[in-house]
Amino acid sequence: MLKQIQETKTFLESKTKIHPFAGIVLGTGLGNLSSEIKIETAIPYEDIPHFPVSTVEGHHGQLIFGTINDVPIVAMQGRFHYYEGYSLKECTFPIRVMKALGIANLFLSNASGGVNSNFNIGDIMLITDHINLLPDNPLRGKNINELGPRFPDMSEPYSKELNDLVINIANQNNIQLQQGVYAILSGPTFETPAEYRYMKIIGADTVGMSTVPEVIVARHMNIPCMAMSIITDLGVDGKIVEISHEEVQKVAKAAEPKMTLIIKELLAQIYTTESILK
Ligand code: HPA
Repeated sequence: MLKQIQETKTFLESKTKIHPFAGIVLGTGLGNLSSEIKIETAIPYEDIPHFPVSTVEGHHGQLIFGTINDVPIVAMQGRFHYYEGYSLKECTFPIRVMKALGIANLFLSNASGGVNSNFNIGDIMLITDHINLLPDNPLRGKNINELGPRFPDMSEPYSKELNDLVINIANQNNIQLQQGVYAILSGPTFETPAEYRYMKIIGADTVGMSTVPEVIVARHMNIPCMAMSIITDLGVDGKIVEISHEEVQKVAKAAEPKMTLIIKELLAQIYTTESILK
């Protein structure tokens, strides 16, 4: 894998002059955060050596290099999901590459079903912790010591420092922000009522089909992570209605401006801080 990461890095560096400070994974319906990026180069996944190719409707599948308010970033427009048939190592390969390109932080977004009865459709939840219910882990197999430890610590999967900044930004901008635990199931089926109940009982606030593998791999490499989830439907007794991919996308789109503002402001704040420290 090290050789593949190196080859992909060399290829990408031949296409861009951007040295990304942050990596961003644009989740379901949030692809349009890309309209806030001053794009220098956008490379379709199928043109990138060793990248899998995204197959899901609504995912554009390209790697974007550019700036957001002069902060250099690399963004995945479209991600790879376990339910598409990829291994978790394939799903998370782009995160390995982003680290090789020098990112200092990783931001992710997704859509999920709320199982916390205080949540409403359209809410944004800051992910404070997760539960991996996939039948696999992207770090299973021989450990590559050059990338990270065999048994990575997971006591702070989501950076408290970044999360505190996000909470302040939300407060200052009158954005209501929920906080909680995100559980991942493989999908592609949405949950049955009994499965939603089970999620709630084991301590989840929302359930979805992404993000956790990317965060595991990022933490393996010691990258601070921040992830937000848009609650697109409710798995709460009495409020469960039929849902579709289209409905998920529609709700996610409506919440997009708030999430975009938070990420832009966060980037501006931490880039300034890092610059002062340098
Ligand atoms: N379950 C799983 N994934 C999802 C959901 C859900 O209810 N909503 C959006 N993504």
